[in-house]
Amino acid sequence: MAIEWTDELSVGHADIDHDHRETIDRIQDLVEAVDDESFKRLFSDFAEHLRIHFEMEQTLMKDNGFFAQVPHTKEHQRVLGGIDSLLKQNDVGDLNAARQYIEFDFPEWFLAHRATMDKVTADFLAG
Ligand SMILES: [Fe+2]
Ligand SMILES: [Fe+2]
Repeated sequence: MAIEWTDELSVGHADIDHDHRETIDRIQDLVEAVDDESFKRLFSDFAEHLRIHFEMEQTLMKDNGFFAQVPHTKEHQRVLGGIDSLLKQNDVGDLNAARQYIEFDFPEWFLAHRATMDKVTADFLAG
């Protein structure tokens, strides 16, 4: 599944949008990474990028008393848990699951999460 930034993906919060653009760029780089070593390196950078992005959203939610911070944070944790397993599989040289995830499951999840939890969070922050 191809994913591309368009202004319709904006949630109206500059820092969140900035990170989401970067997420999409990183997905594209991963999809195009033909050799396994590049894929592994990009995937672990991607995991770190997500961890930082999720923490940023969680800090915004906490600092502003967002009413749904618990389910939103749990959803981030669930996704990072899945990514941790993929990192372990990558370490033993089995990249198939991570490649599938980046091409299909993650973009699908990302678009749905952006449209729901992230959008509701950004709307709340905008007051
Ligand atoms: Fe989020
Ligand atoms: Fe997000």
